[in-house]
Amino acid sequence: MNFPLPPNATIGIVGGGQLGRMSAMAAARLGYRCHIFTPEPDAPASQVASLTTLADYDDNAALIRFAESVDVITFEFENVSAEGLDLLAERRPVRPGPDILRISQDRIAEKTFLNAAGVRTAPWAPVESIAQLQAAIATIGLPAVLKTTRLGYDGKGQALIRTAGEAEMAFALLNPKPLILEGFVDFACECSVIVARGADGASTAFDTVENRHRDHILDLTLAPAPFDPDLRHEAQAMALRVADHLALVGLMAVEFFIDRDGRILANEIAPRPHNSGHWTIDACPASQFELHIRAVAGLALPQAVRHSDAVMKNLVGPSDIALWPQIVASQGLIPHHYGKTAAREGRKLGHVNTLFPHGALPGAFGIAAALGVLAAGEP
Ligand SMILES: Nc1ncnc2c1ncn2[C@@H]1O[C@H](COP(=O)(O)OP(=O)(O)O)[C@@H](O)[C@H]1O
Ligand SMILES: [Mg+2]
Repeated sequence: MNFPLPPNATIGIVGGGQLGRMSAMAAARLGYRCHIFTPEPDAPASQVASLTTLADYDDNAALIRFAESVDVITFEFENVSAEGLDLLAERRPVRPGPDILRISQDRIAEKTFLNAAGVRTAPWAPVESIAQLQAAIATIGLPAVLKTTRLGYDGKGQALIRTAGEAEMAFALLNPKPLILEGFVDFACECSVIVARGADGASTAFDTVENRHRDHILDLTLAPAPFDPDLRHEAQAMALRVADHLALVGLMAVEFFIDRDGRILANEIAPRPHNSGHWTIDACPASQFELHIRAVAGLALPQAVRHSDAVMKNLVGPSDIALWPQIVASQGLIPHHYGKTAAREGRKLGHVNTLFPHGALPGAFGIAAALGVLAAGEP
């Protein structure tokens, strides 16, 4: 089938989580059907899609059948094997392309790419042995963060090394090897930018947002980030440059640290919709999910503008989701539930957006007041 995909074409989405769910909802509004590939029965995305292939990510026969039943393939889950990616890409257009997924799957490839694109990161070094770790500590210094290169998320697969004595234990605990050592960034804040880019090279970036984490899981996103607009624009320009260097077709998030000297350091890239973009569903004419689907389907990309400022609060684990009845009864809290039936500790179960007039994002007290029943301990 040719691009742009016409209504009723089928978009294959690899992964069945909430990012797939919200992408499928955006796709439905544009008249597309979604076919979800997931190993999880009753996955959040399957609940809102017309078809699901229920199979493991390494089930090559299932991947082939899936590819042959869709018009284009995209991802909400990045960790498909290289072989699986090839099987998909031989059969249908994969957007973003397999090369981009391979870079984002591996922290060493990712940091190498970012630096080559002229984007600053924390100092880093690959670590395959204790001797290499000692050498890396000697150059990078302490504290430093040792991470697995693959399959990390929500801070899993990382250890902070504060003193030389902690190095050996951290090395032993983290698997599989190789690892990567990164200098610890004593950041003033964390922020991110979401970029969409079409096959014609046209791109657009949402405003830079600030992300605050709790227990290594995203807790709050403030849109726009409440700091110097010049810094916000610089982060946007860096994210757009990264998208161009990758020849991205699709949507991508770039996570950054702002250090104490006001310098921007890239942390990681995610070639898919991102938790820090969930505010765009309610605060923008076209959300990150709509831009994702538009880029994948070859439709024109509207500008990634917002009509409102916003705060997004994640609902994580049983204690947050227990507030659901009060949340849906609250004026001004815009609720999003992911349809997950098991409310495990640390699991992202939904989020809430609150909107403010453009340019009127309040300070801490105003945000706490707007979050109402969710404000305990915030921001
Ligand atoms: N080099 C670093 N210096 C300081 N904090 C870090 C560093 N790397 C990671 N972190 C903290 O841990 C969080 C998760 O790390 P990240 O590299 O984004 O992995 P993932 O999101 O894949 O779990 C970051 O958002 C940040 O809060
Ligand atoms: Mg991260």
